[in-house]
Amino acid sequence: PSLDEILNLHDFEAIARLVMAEKAWAYYSSAADDEITNRENHFAYHRIWFRPRILRNVAKVDWSTTILGNPSSMPVYITATALGKLGHPEGELNLTRAAAKHGVIQMIPTLASCSFDEIVDAAQPGQVQFLQLYVNNDRNITKRIVQHAEQRGIKGLFITVDAPQLGRREKDMRMKFEADDPSEVSKSGSEGVDRSQGAARAISSFIDPSLEWADISWFKAITKMPLILKGVQTWEDALMAYDAGLAGIVLSNHGGRQLDFARSGIEILVEVVSKLGEKRGVKFPNEKFQLFVDGGVRRATDVLKAVALGATAVGIGRPFLYAFSAYGQEGVEKGLQILHGEFEMNLRLLGAPTIKDVVPEMVDASNVSSH
Ligand code: FNR
Repeated sequence: PSLDEILNLHDFEAIARLVMAEKAWAYYSSAADDEITNRENHFAYHRIWFRPRILRNVAKVDWSTTILGNPSSMPVYITATALGKLGHPEGELNLTRAAAKHGVIQMIPTLASCSFDEIVDAAQPGQVQFLQLYVNNDRNITKRIVQHAEQRGIKGLFITVDAPQLGRREKDMRMKFEADDPSEVSKSGSEGVDRSQGAARAISSFIDPSLEWADISWFKAITKMPLILKGVQTWEDALMAYDAGLAGIVLSNHGGRQLDFARSGIEILVEVVSKLGEKRGVKFPNEKFQLFVDGGVRRATDVLKAVALGATAVGIGRPFLYAFSAYGQEGVEKGLQILHGEFEMNLRLLGAPTIKDVVPEMVDASNVSSH
């Protein structure tokens, strides 16, 4: 089908399933165990309803915002997803170029298929990029990656903390990861890998499971970039991150690919906002400690629910992977255009001229427990 027939982000998934190579589909779409968390990630948004306001002059609406102090055309960023070349020969560069055209921020994965420098070089002058970090068993490698990223102008370091061991993604495990695969991850210190159990397991054997809270001060000592933990799942850990002086956290279950039966990010958001308010008197959205959510976000209405509840922005993963696998860069651009259109309409219908006007009173989240 032509791109004109794509009406929403869900459509990319349906098309990608038909046109993608089996192995790539298995890696991108797979999730842990019985994939219950993956399914719930999107469905959790169905439990939250809007309380729109009327007669508020929404002739002009503006959905732009700032993320960690950087301008973004919407409260959405492209989250890190590994192995872009499995889906398309240009891999992550499809995301970089589309992000530039539409003013959104791309988070570069440690395990990109294109090299880090290629992805940074493909950016326009002034284009903002973040880096997702898997912490290596060899801290010298991690130090090199981090300091190089800072030198190259990366504006935020998202340390993934939900993957001390990769989850069992059985769809992916049924596929063998071949040594001469052109989509293989770029050299990032992931040598000596076991190639017998799918792409995910093959590339992740270097990740350090001994990472702990005490290591945060080491990161603070080696970089001035804002530090964000990606994969926080409880208010208790959110509080520790806040007290540790981090710049923010991503409430995420890694797209349902790690612990099955982990809760959806939007549910975690409700308890984090409530408990950090109670324990530390913090109000959200907050400039100094920013909350992000990812997993199952497919509509601007999903994003606006998270924003109303205190998130600064949300990450979207698979829809953009499916978009470039089927249509290359143009697919990603189309996905971003669709979101822009949805923001414009939904802000009008909510009676919120700007993102700052999207407040907690605009949602009914009473079906979500605040723990
Ligand atoms: C991911 N994700 C991920 N996260 C991370 O920290 N490092 C990584 O290398 C990857 N790789 C990766 C590959 C693929 C194929 C997917 C689908 C996901 C998780 C990602 O950043 C994010 O948390 C989820 O993808 C968000 O959920 P949706 O939008 O894909 O539903």
